Amino acid sequence: MTLALAKGRTAEDSIKLLEKAGIHFDDFSENSRKLVFYDTESLIKLIFVKAVDVPTYVENGAADLGIVGKDNIMESQADIYEILDLKLGQCKFAVAGFNNGQSPTKNVLTVASKYPTVAKSHFHKKGVPIETIKLNGSVELAPIIGLADVIVDIVETGNTIRENGLTILEEIESVSTRLIVNKASFTTKSESVHAFINTLQIGLE
Ligand code: PRP
Repeated sequence: MTLALAKGRTAEDSIKLLEKAGIHFDDFSENSRKLVFYDTESLIKLIFVKAVDVPTYVENGAADLGIVGKDNIMESQADIYEILDLKLGQCKFAVAGFNNGQSPTKNVLTVASKYPTVAKSHFHKKGVPIETIKLNGSVELAPIIGLADVIVDIVETGNTIRENGLTILEEIESVSTRLIVNKASFTTKSESVHAFINTLQIGLE
């Protein structure tokens, strides 16, 4: 089976969780340029990919399993099964801006985000029309320099928001690392997939 593991802040904890469950990738190193690793029993091929791409690999069957944040799952809208909450990288999606409200500078509220789909869905549910501006990082800058009225981003410690003079205006949803499974693999590789899920559950106890 192939497991797509998200690079980034939760990668190390994900590997620790797999180890706790008895799945060892002895040659894994975040700092290496290697992208493919095998567990000691050669049952699992781990591919180390950008978090944003994990749902795509799993949806298309290039990976049977994926370990990735709920933020990227929600943004991708990928057609996959979300099986387990691995409780790593716990944070939340929030709307943030200046605390003098969200009155739009133009006719419509402008929202900057790495997660435009999540932003659109949130404001659509509230019946608030918005324009989204897709950014790839340092999103907190957008309200400061007048690029957007508010941002939709993940908040963990809240330091980035605070240090940039912004406040949380609304909390949207909790985010953490999840185990996802390709829909076809869930059936065709049922035994191996369920064995993996059961093993991982041991690591979570
Ligand atoms: C994320 C997120 C916030 C920050 C939140 O950015 O987009 O900017 O972390 O964390 P905090 O609440 O603990 O401060 P990331 O570090 O991934 O970098 P980026 O701005 O380049 O996307």
